[in-house]
Amino acid sequence: MTTATIRVYLFKGFERLWHWTQALLIILLGITGFEIHNSYHLFGYQKAVMLHNTLAWALIALIVFAIFWHLTTGEWRQYVPTTERLSAVAHYYAVGIFKNEKHPFKESEASKLNPLQRFTYLGFKILIIPVQVTTGLLYMYYNHWHEWGIFARLDLTALLHTAGAFALISFFIVHVYMTTTGHTPLAHIKAMITGWEEIEAD
Ligand code: HEM
Repeated sequence: MTTATIRVYLFKGFERLWHWTQALLIILLGITGFEIHNSYHLFGYQKAVMLHNTLAWALIALIVFAIFWHLTTGEWRQYVPTTERLSAVAHYYAVGIFKNEKHPFKESEASKLNPLQRFTYLGFKILIIPVQVTTGLLYMYYNHWHEWGIFARLDLTALLHTAGAFALISFFIVHVYMTTTGHTPLAHIKAMITGWEEIEAD
């Protein structure tokens, strides 16, 4: 039996550009960062540091644009957390999905993130990214700490930055798995490219 689908325009142009640019920058920051961490040799240490710094500034610029966009369009409301249907959605991903059950949440233009996504992406935005940017900038300007009156520990800053990098890798793995859970394995990826999501009609 084929299920009827309807098309909903979920992701606007800026959002898609922001999403893919952010993904690319974070992947490249991870690749150069773990070379700096001495996990492997790819570009050479000096070049990896140079690339990492440039990519970091590009990410910071993108974040500034994204904050501006979310505030001026009101789209920040999409991330307001809610517990409504949270357990139903969690149950779906843990159990229901393997029994071919219906997803308990239907996306719409007004509410495109399910409650689990709202919590996850909010955590990403207000915890992981700020930790990574703050510790990264501290790391970058270590030579100025004394002059700026900053009394922190470089080893702890580096440890937190590396922990943030591992958190981002974990996020990435789960995130990519979740993209395959639409009505076809590539449906969510396609939606983030075209803006249009196909959702099952009741
Ligand atoms: C705006 C964001 C960021 C800034 C300002 C930043 C800055 C820095 C700086 C200055 C260093 C030290 C380079 C050196 O030793 O000279 C570093 C190291 C590193 N970065 Fe970033 N970074 C940022 C984002 C990221 C992201 C998103 C990741 C991972 C996905 C990452 C992963 C790493 C890792 C693994 C290291 C090596 C840490 C160590 O072994 O001490 N960074 N970063």
